[in-house]
Amino acid sequence: MTEAAAEAARVLRELEPSVERLLERHLDAARDWLPHRYVPWGAGRDYDGPLGGTAWAPEQSALPRAVQDALVVNLLTEDNLPSYHFEIATRFGRDGAWGAWVHRWTAEEDRHAAVLRAYVHARRAVDPVALEELRMRHVGTGFRSDLPTPLHSLAYVTVQELATRQAHRNAGAACGDAAGQKLMARIAADENLHMVFYRDLFADALALFPDAAVTALTDVLVDFEMPGATIPGFRARAARIAASGIYNLDVHLEYVVAPLLRALKVATLPGLGPDGERARERLQRHVGQLSAQAARARELFARMNTDGHTDSHTGRSAGRRTDRHTADTAGREQEAQV
Ligand SMILES: [Fe+2]
Ligand SMILES: [Fe+2]
Repeated sequence: MTEAAAEAARVLRELEPSVERLLERHLDAARDWLPHRYVPWGAGRDYDGPLGGTAWAPEQSALPRAVQDALVVNLLTEDNLPSYHFEIATRFGRDGAWGAWVHRWTAEEDRHAAVLRAYVHARRAVDPVALEELRMRHVGTGFRSDLPTPLHSLAYVTVQELATRQAHRNAGAACGDAAGQKLMARIAADENLHMVFYRDLFADALALFPDAAVTALTDVLVDFEMPGATIPGFRARAARIAASGIYNLDVHLEYVVAPLLRALKVATLPGLGPDGERARERLQRHVGQLSAQAARARELFARMNTDGHTDSHTGRSAGRRTDRHTADTAGREQEAQV
């Protein structure tokens, strides 16, 4: 066994009691739910092909363009679950408390793509042929994180679950469809509990291995990219999603990075050696850069707004902060707080 492999095994072993405790807490807090109850089946009708129904056409979708983009990105991201399962099963293990968490998490996640796809098909929300072609390409490519240590993997999933919660929550709030909002808020509530599990596990990691954990968190936040970034055509969709305020740097900073650093008490973390201190300073510089980037992006959206660029479906202004705050309040009401 190499030194790195032995260290990885030690980290996982020392965190296992925390996994056991947090899994028990998760099982107490998680509310079971039935995906089929969230799909507006009555709105559906047969498609062309073997059933001889009606082919999809763009005017059939009542959802704003940016929400369509967000649904495609969020759904394809959920679709890659087999790759994520492989990643965490091989990194965290399939035995003991880690294995129990990995399998439970996979079972919960498996609902998300299935129910979102049923929703978009029933509502004719996006082109189902293009969606299926994208799914084949995206899942066919797979996802691998190539992160160097288990602490990096833990930091990544913590940030990713929180970012995903926010993406689902805000897409639901902006969709203008009560069924869609209920469904996406329900999925966001799952992602919230996943984030809470990983965040509190990471807090224990910071206490046990302060230097290595703060370095891992810094590395991950500095390079953070959503797993959906490899979706074909992601950049153009991400730009429209950002301009609509569903997910952009402001959201990332205000609802993901800042609350996480606050909850983990990174600024006042005791027991850091020189490596940990350097990582924390690097993280503080990164947050400063992120704020400056977010401010520039906000100016751009404001210019787009005064230039008269509005969403073609809703007439809504680009980048409105109020949408996001309304989404946050609505989403929080549905999420079990731990
Ligand atoms: Fe999910
Ligand atoms: Fe999740």
